[in-house]
Amino acid sequence: MSSPLRITSAKRTAAVAAQLAEFGRQSFHDTYAAQNTPEDMALYLAETFGPQQQLAELHDPHTFFFLALMQQQLVGYAKLYIGSGLGAEAGADVRTRAELQRLYVQEDWQGTGLGAALLRRCIEEARTQGCRTLVLTVWEKNLKAQEFYRRKGFKQIGETEYRVGNDVQNDFILRKGL
Ligand SMILES: CC(C)(COP(=O)(O)OP(=O)(O)OC[C@H]1O[C@@H](n2cnc3c(N)ncnc32)[C@H](O)[C@@H]1OP(=O)(O)O)[C@@H](O)C(=O)NCCC(=O)NCCS
Repeated sequence: MSSPLRITSAKRTAAVAAQLAEFGRQSFHDTYAAQNTPEDMALYLAETFGPQQQLAELHDPHTFFFLALMQQQLVGYAKLYIGSGLGAEAGADVRTRAELQRLYVQEDWQGTGLGAALLRRCIEEARTQGCRTLVLTVWEKNLKAQEFYRRKGFKQIGETEYRVGNDVQNDFILRKGL
């Protein structure tokens, strides 16, 4: 029997934006709440995961969202951006650089291969778009994700600041050739 879990490209609708806003808020909170203050967390979630903002991101022509759906329930998603200058050397052609901006799997589904499947879908799309490089940032304290990316062939190429509420954090920039 085929699995009812499927990975699809997100439709650019208000209903999907609302689904992404709720899941985005919940999964970010689940991942980072224990290591951030409630104030910083609340500020970040309010700034980042409004339904209008998600709709604007869905409509960005350089952005691709992939959704993992179990029946109609969102259990994971990835956000890919084409044309990223993150960690790029001077003069690099950013059109060939894709950035994995978000990758989140619901806690119950973590460790089932879903993160790897979403990553594969992003890599396929990045290649289709003519990209040769995939970059991302990962928080220095997110050891689980760092291990996941290391196993998937990413290497650290630098560091950058990332603000969560009023807290300026240190992220690693990782890169993988496509
Ligand atoms: C990081 C994340 C996306 C990985 O997805 P996942 O579905 O849990 O991982 P998978 O089941 O696809 O595992 C893929 C590989 O990572 C390894 N892995 C997964 N979790 C691991 C852990 N906690 N420690 C060590 N290795 C781990 C698996 O063993 C597997 O390795 P293999 O391919 O060599 O066999 C997911 O755990 C997640 O959403 N975490 C919370 C959000 C987050 O941190 N996102 C990243 C932000 S930068």
